[in-house]
Order: sequence, then C-alpha cells, then structure tokens
Amino acid sequence: MTEPTKTATLSFDGKTFDLPMFTPTAGPEVIDIRKLYGQAGVFTYDPGFTSTAACDSTITYIDGDEGILLHRGYPIDQLAAKSHYLEVCYLLLYGELPTATQLEDFETRVTHHTMVHEQMHNFFRGFRRDAHPMATMVGVVGAMSAFYADSADVNDPWQREVASIRLVAKLPTIAAMAYKYSIGQPFVYPRNDLDYAANFLHMCFSVPAEKYEVDPILARAMDRILTLHADHEQNASTSTVRLASSSGANPFASIAAGIACLWGPAHGGANQACLEMLREIGTVDRIPEFIARAKDKNDPFRLMGFGHRVYKNTDPRAKVLKNSADEVLELLGVQDNPLLQVAKELEHVALNDPYFIEKKLFPNVDFYSGIILEAMGFPTSMFTPIFALSRTVGWISQWKEMIADPQMKIGRPRQLYLGATARDYVDVENR
Ligand code: CMC
Repeated sequence: MTEPTKTATLSFDGKTFDLPMFTPTAGPEVIDIRKLYGQAGVFTYDPGFTSTAACDSTITYIDGDEGILLHRGYPIDQLAAKSHYLEVCYLLLYGELPTATQLEDFETRVTHHTMVHEQMHNFFRGFRRDAHPMATMVGVVGAMSAFYADSADVNDPWQREVASIRLVAKLPTIAAMAYKYSIGQPFVYPRNDLDYAANFLHMCFSVPAEKYEVDPILARAMDRILTLHADHEQNASTSTVRLASSSGANPFASIAAGIACLWGPAHGGANQACLEMLREIGTVDRIPEFIARAKDKNDPFRLMGFGHRVYKNTDPRAKVLKNSADEVLELLGVQDNPLLQVAKELEHVALNDPYFIEKKLFPNVDFYSGIILEAMGFPTSMFTPIFALSRTVGWISQWKEMIADPQMKIGRPRQLYLGATARDYVDVENR
C-alpha cells in the first residue's frame, strides 16, 4: 500500500475532518475514507460503486475516457496482436511477461491439469439435459471444492498456487463438458498436444466417430477472444469474487460466485443477449424501430452490446474484435452473414445518433464476439461460458492479490437505512 500524498478536508455541522489522499500511478486521485466513520460518525453513500475504489491493485488499468486497457502496463491491442492467452495468464498471475523457460514451465503445468476428476462425469449427469451451460458451470465449479479439497486452503500459498493452475486448466474442460452434455454428445477428453484454444475447440467440436482437425486460424481467433476477456479490473464479477473470498471462502466457491454474477445480461450475459437482439432485428430496415425503442424512456429495451460503465469513448477490445470478425467470417466464407450486416449498420446508425453520442454509448466487447463465436459454430448459450472461462484467470489473479495483502479485511458495506424505526410487535389477531 502506498503512503498518502495530500489531504482532503470534509466539513459539516461546523466540524472539519482531514482525510488522507493517495496518488495512483495512473488514474484519478483517491480520498481515503476508511477512518471516516470512526472519526466523524458518518457513512458515504455510493450504490453501484460509481465513485468508490474498493481495493488497491497492480493488475489492470482502464482509462475510460481514452479507451485504454492495460494489463500490468501492457496495452491490450499489443497483447492481442503479439501475445497469446496463456502468456497473458502468466502476466496477470505473476506480474511480468515470462521468459521462454518460465512460459514453457507454466504451459506444462496448465496442460497437465486439464483433465477433471472422472467422478465429475457423474456429477454432470445430475443436471437436466436442457440446462443452460452457465447453470451447469456455476454448479460444477462450486463442486470443485468437493473434488479438490487438497487445494482449497486459502491460507496456504502452495494450495493457492495449485488451485490457480487447476482453475485455469480445467475451466475449458468444464465449459466444453457443459456444452456436450447440453447437446447429448459424449464428453471429449482434453488433448495435451494442442494449445489452450485449439484444445477447447477440440473438446467442443470433435466426436469419437470422426477425425477432427482444428483450423489454426480459428484457434487463433478463439485465443484472441480469450485474451481480450482475460481481466477487466474491478467489474461486477471480479468484485463478487473478491467479496466472496474476503470471508475466507475457498477459491472454487468464490470463482463459482463470479460465474453466477457474470451470467447477468448487463455483464457477461450481454454477448448472448446481443446476438439474440441482432437476430430479432433480422434485417437492416428494422434498425430504426429498435433504435427508437432504445431511446424510449418508457421501454425497458436497451441496445445490447452498447454502453459501458467505465469506457466513455471506445472499448479497445471491441476494436480488435471488429477486425477479427471480418477475418473469421472471410475465412469461413460467410462474409455476407446477415447478422454482421445488421451489426455494422446498427453500429453506424447508433454512432451517428445524438442520443447515443450524448450518452457516450458505443459498441462494447460483447457486440462483435457473438458474431465470431456463432460463425465458429457455437450456440448463443455458450457465449457467456466462454467469457467465464477466459475471465477465470482475471478473477484468480485478483483473488491471489487480495489474499496476499496483509491489510485484507472481510468486505462489509454499510447502508443508508430508510426503513421503519423500532416498533412493538403486534399479535396477528390485532393487525
Ligand atoms: N441502450 C440504450 N440506452 C442505454 C444503454 C443501451 N445499451 N446503456 C445505457 N443507456 C442509457 C441509460 O438509459 C441511461 O440514460 P439516462 O441517463 O437518460 O437514464 C444512460 O445511458 C446511462 O446508463 P446507466 O445504466 O446509468 O449506465 P451504467 O454505467 O450503469 O451501465 C451498462 C452500463 C453496460 C450496464 C449499460 O450501458 C447497459 O445496460 N448496456 C447493455 C448491456 C451490455 O452490453 N453490457 C455489457 C457490458 S461490457 C461487458 C462486460 O465487461 O460486462
């Protein structure tokens, strides 16, 4: 933790309180209110955490006005172009880009943990066939604490390390199993001769009856999607993981909590919701109708894949994915994909509409990822599981950082209470 650099003053009721301030390496200065209640007897109020830094961190930095996303200082567009998912995982987990030997060692460790306990197959079979793969993943990842209890002690650094590797290694296997189960096909075991993304495609799309060759260009596109989703500082699911694990909950339970949070359509569930919206729009001529609905205060409809709490200029991940969508669709010979036409025209119309300009709403990462994933053959129900498996490394990196922090406390927000004050119980016959 850094030392205060200056002081802010808060005055009310004729009293004045000095509050220390911190200067970050990048981003806005921060007023430290940790002792405010003890000294002044007041709480601060910030539902939605729009002005509250809930922790200090050295992992990821976002400048929402400039559209910048850095992992350990490295810009996301450079990582997407020059690095690959497992190298970015190493960077997030350990703070620096690996040397060739460190990378090889890390890849070997991850690769040799890709299989899940065989008994987990039985656990999967308890779910209904039509269960959403996210529902299955929440349950199965939570159940990892039952299968891997030997790496669930958060106070043991070695067990934390083993749990991290297990989670990064097994999430693709679990996501692919959730998919296979939902379509009634046999589970496909991982292949350790394939890289991380290619192995995931193999586990999703191969069947025992036929030979399956992973297209290296598709594997590269998959790897880029994973890389772009790897971490995003203190978003809702990451904050959920931090809060859940601040009680000392084991890592598997905490990551399951993160997956549950990610599922919501305002967060990771937006990729599924966005593609469903593009399908509902269907043709370019219907775009004005949906734009009008998005602007209508009496209609709850929102343009899915548009807007972001932090980015107010551009989402750098969306820029990379837009180009990737063109490449992948061309490779698959489906550049005339009607959904891509609708998406491009919708983006064009929205970006030139005063409502979207004024509210700084533009396509986010979920706008183009669904088009790529659909072209690869994934059903919409798999979009959020893929987001979950890529974000797992971000959740774990943030969890490890928090657990290792000697100042860590259980997360326990306060409230502005507006309910009834104390009153006497009334017997039912007198109400
Ligand atoms: N379509 C139409 N209007 C919108 C949209 C949208 N997608 N997003 C925000 N607005 C309007 C909103 O109605 C509000 O208007 P007003 O000020 O008149 O009340 C204003 O813009 C600010 O919206 P907000 O809900 O206060 O903003 P927020 O920062 O709380 O929400 C958001 C951010 C991402 C939840 C929101 O933009 C949204 O619901 N977008 C659609 C869902 C989506 O694409 N989510 C994926 C986010 S990126 C992936 C991830 O990391 O999770």
